[in-house]
Amino acid sequence: MKKRGEKIVMLTAYDYPTARLVEEAGVPLILVGDSLGMVVLGYDSTIPVTMEEMLHHVKAVVRGTRRAHIVADMPFMSYQASSQEALHNAGRMLKEGGAQSVKLEGGLRVAETVRLLVEAGIPVMGHLGLTPQSINQFGGYRVQGKTPAAAVKLLNDAVALEQAGAYAIVLETVPTQLAMVITERVSIPTIGIGAGPRCDGQVQVLHDMLGLFIDFLPKHAKRYANLAETIIEAVRQYAGEVKEERFPTERESFIMDESVFSEMSHLA
Ligand code: KIV
Repeated sequence: MKKRGEKIVMLTAYDYPTARLVEEAGVPLILVGDSLGMVVLGYDSTIPVTMEEMLHHVKAVVRGTRRAHIVADMPFMSYQASSQEALHNAGRMLKEGGAQSVKLEGGLRVAETVRLLVEAGIPVMGHLGLTPQSINQFGGYRVQGKTPAAAVKLLNDAVALEQAGAYAIVLETVPTQLAMVITERVSIPTIGIGAGPRCDGQVQVLHDMLGLFIDFLPKHAKRYANLAETIIEAVRQYAGEVKEERFPTERESFIMDESVFSEMSHLA
């Protein structure tokens, strides 16, 4: 697709119904992102997300899809402590979770780990720029690669990931020009989020684009629907109908045969 200049569409999904709907809409690449920690589990960052939580959601997404390629995000501290631990945990994402590849954050510093996973037969997607698991080092959700030195470091990180065998790289919250240079420099696809239009593909967090996560909307996100409003309105309507005894009606009820009811009434 990169060679053909065909844009790659990736979107997150976190459970059976969202995976089914995203695949039904024709998205070929689904990321079970650790962003689920914030948009589904209510944590204030992705740091607390565990392997067990990720596996729980990866399995549900896999059950909801038939054709899409499923990328499982490696949660914080599932791959940083040692390459062996990374291999064990990445293996679980494929073996137990049913995903087809894993994603992990970092460049040069994780290159050896990426190489080990790829050699073991585990396809790896890299992730550079504003990598949310390093939020405590960045001191906030800020644009990365803004100085010449920082930009060159990210470029070198991308090259290191390609050389280690990564099959694609997510570029998050970096200037458009830097994403363009990285995209031209590496032969593997770049998938942008807040990285401008010159990447080979784009990824978004489903709950942001559907207006389901209402705590805040990142600058890079665009709302294509306002499901929060739809849900609140529907729930209000349901609550009102229950209180006013307009739900359930006969249509949603199960009526006993008159003769059975009369026999029961005699017995009661
Ligand atoms: O966890 C996630 O959803 C991600 C995307 C923002 C790329 O890593």
